[in-house]
Amino acid sequence: MNSNDIRDIFYTFFKNKGHYKVMSAPLVPAKDPTILFTNAGMNQFKDIFIGNESRDYKRAVSIQKCMRVSGKHNDFDEVGRTEYHHTFFEMLGNFSFGDYFKEKAIEYAWELMTDKFGFSPEDLRVSVFNEDDESYKIWEDKIGIPSKRISRLGEKDNFWQMGNTGPCGPCSEIHYDRGAEFGPDEFSGDNKRFVEVWNLVFMQYYKEESGKMNPLPSPSIDTGMGMERLTTLLSGKSSNYDTDLFRPIIEFTAKLADVNPDDKDIKIGLNVIADHVRALSFLISDGVLPSNDGRGYVLRRLLRRASKHGRSIGFKESFLYKVTPVVIEIMENTYPELGLNRKFISEVIKSEEERFERTLLSGLKRFEDIIHNTIDKGEKVLSGKDVFKLSDTYGFPVDFSIDLANEKNMKVDLEGFRAELADQQKKSRSGLAVRGVSNLPEDMDKLNSIFTGYNSLEEESSIKEIFKANSITDSISEGEEGVLIIEKTPFYGESGGQTGDTGSGRSENSLFSITDTRKNSTGGLLHYVKILKGNLTNSDIVRVKVDMSKRENIAAHHTSTHLLHAALREILGPHIKQSGSYVGPDKLRFDFTHFKSVSKDQLNGIETLINRKIRENLNVKTIETTYEDALNSGAIAIFDEKYSDKVRMLSIGEFSCELCGGTHLQQTGEIGFFKITSESSISSGIRRIEAVAGSAGYKYLETLFSRIEKIESKFNQKGERLFDFLSELDEKNRKLEKKISKQGSQEKTDFSELKSSKMEIRGLPVIIHHFEETSKKMLSTAADDIKRKYECVTIISSNEGGKSGIVISIPSNLTKKFNASTLIKQISTIVEGNGGGRPDFAQAGGNEINDPEGFMARIVELLENTK
Ligand code: GLY
Repeated sequence: MNSNDIRDIFYTFFKNKGHYKVMSAPLVPAKDPTILFTNAGMNQFKDIFIGNESRDYKRAVSIQKCMRVSGKHNDFDEVGRTEYHHTFFEMLGNFSFGDYFKEKAIEYAWELMTDKFGFSPEDLRVSVFNEDDESYKIWEDKIGIPSKRISRLGEKDNFWQMGNTGPCGPCSEIHYDRGAEFGPDEFSGDNKRFVEVWNLVFMQYYKEESGKMNPLPSPSIDTGMGMERLTTLLSGKSSNYDTDLFRPIIEFTAKLADVNPDDKDIKIGLNVIADHVRALSFLISDGVLPSNDGRGYVLRRLLRRASKHGRSIGFKESFLYKVTPVVIEIMENTYPELGLNRKFISEVIKSEEERFERTLLSGLKRFEDIIHNTIDKGEKVLSGKDVFKLSDTYGFPVDFSIDLANEKNMKVDLEGFRAELADQQKKSRSGLAVRGVSNLPEDMDKLNSIFTGYNSLEEESSIKEIFKANSITDSISEGEEGVLIIEKTPFYGESGGQTGDTGSGRSENSLFSITDTRKNSTGGLLHYVKILKGNLTNSDIVRVKVDMSKRENIAAHHTSTHLLHAALREILGPHIKQSGSYVGPDKLRFDFTHFKSVSKDQLNGIETLINRKIRENLNVKTIETTYEDALNSGAIAIFDEKYSDKVRMLSIGEFSCELCGGTHLQQTGEIGFFKITSESSISSGIRRIEAVAGSAGYKYLETLFSRIEKIESKFNQKGERLFDFLSELDEKNRKLEKKISKQGSQEKTDFSELKSSKMEIRGLPVIIHHFEETSKKMLSTAADDIKRKYECVTIISSNEGGKSGIVISIPSNLTKKFNASTLIKQISTIVEGNGGGRPDFAQAGGNEINDPEGFMARIVELLENTK
């Protein structure tokens, strides 16, 4: 049986038992800050278990992409050490949301394992939670498992929780007995003879941060079975790495490195590479990119570890990107997103691998310095601070430092390293901005509003709550500000990149403006209000009205954003994923994954295509459907957006189809016009396009035209001629600049003629000289040069643009007799100017010097009379 057969059997079995097939959620969890990556099949159903969401079905089956590399479930360090731990893996699961419970869950699991997968009952062992007599009895009495093959275990093995907080409950596990050669017949969670295959979780509680367990609204079922282990057992292999999920990757890599795939010495390296390339491919296709924190950092670490193992088996240059096609070939039937992102995945990996090579080279040099400093001090332990800096600033991995130190019989002060790391994490946490909304009381989450703003911009409604300075209040009066929550609202609160509506409102006794609107975590709409007149009381009925023209401008940009997304995918490729957006009344900004800059031609193509779609006046239609149906009909979902089962699918003709809750125009023709204003890179692999549409687009053009008109009138040239004229002007200017700088350099070398001007005044060497038409800037350089060359008091002047400039530069050993800053004040009065400076250097400006000879004579006189 291979992995594809297993997926088919699993789905068919549970579909026949009335389970709704749900697609795998992305690896990036949807708006769940408690986990970094999707770590179990149940993650996407968390809100259903908790009772915050309900769906049309009560039974579900899924095969979920998972990563266990952080937080409560972390196998990062196990990979390579065992043959059955992975960073990325697939989890098969069936779920009951308040429908069946322990008995059916156990019955189904047993039937599938024995009847469909063909395990012999004697080879299976089960465990239950210590106190769970009910499950024990089901296994013993209903299923007929002899008690010697049922074990009771403690919390560590048989109580499952998603994270430090979240849904949890006791569980019962099915294990496979590999036989006497793998260990004694003593069942325990640690005995390697028994392989855990399937975990049936009896979801009953919600664990709070304080550790308190609250019962869930209804007992539910969540099960998880590791695809890779199951495939190993069902295909008669002894290691996950020997299955059809991994073996082709290993063989390909070995061939590439020209090594034997079964060589014991390099087996671990090949296994780690295979595991990590799978993880990298899936992460990148779900929108994760290398970075120095969060998910991107995990990606970076995985790549670096894989690359490091690559070096140890003989690769001299980047190779991981060559392995990804094999992963894609094995998995793309089940996960088509891999095939769609084929090129992008290998580009990201290649560029990151090359970057890592550069980091290694420069890091190695720095590492050698640290080693030498440590040896010079007569020490053998590298400072944690230095190693931290090496890893944090220069990206040189700490495990490299440890390995290299070991090779030199030295150590790294890991405690010091961890202290630095903790310090940095503390600093970055305290830098997090707190938005005004989070200052509001928690029970606000219950204050949901009904949104009526897709079809109307005005609403009459009762008030649910008024807040003033973060506390609930009965009323707010003239001049005061507060937050208003009402039963029904046409206001769209800032979300999904779209700016919140603003507008106005009134009640019988008040008039107020609505200056901003935002959504709280459960869809409640916060209206930030300022009372302009009268008093607003919580028993009032209010009539609120959205600022229509702002809403229209926002809608033009939002519909254009969808057109842009579709056009980017058409012109640049299907790997394009939205990674952020701003949709405002003034412009739109769209961030997306793409590895190269978008060329001028491509930008033109994108813009032309969008404007064509605008002129085609396509219908913008929304329908409510299920998440699954929407994706099946080709709709694009944003990977870290949270969708409930009922979603709003927005299509623009046949051109674009996306899940979206925003407000839009009804026909693309209403946009009128679309113009890209900039394209740039915002981080590695993420580009940004800014654009304007609708009346903001018109305004943009208007400003542009009036700027051009200004230039045309200034130079008295029009249209194409203006360009030629300015080009000529530019050319002329360049020539002049060249000439001036040539003159300048000639002046610089011509000072030899000044030799004869050198005189002695009061026993000191002095040069006084007037240059014709020399710029002030050149004058000061010349003064210093002359002073240095002749070691004399230098006083030079010139005229430029109808004004004079004078510079004095005096060798510092002569400043006792002649002080430049005093002299300049006296000399500048001759030209009715002023100036200043230091004892050794000073400058001044004044009227044009018409009689240079006379001017210089006055200076001589002045010096002679200086005391
Ligand atoms: N949610 C069940 C498991 O991960 O084992």
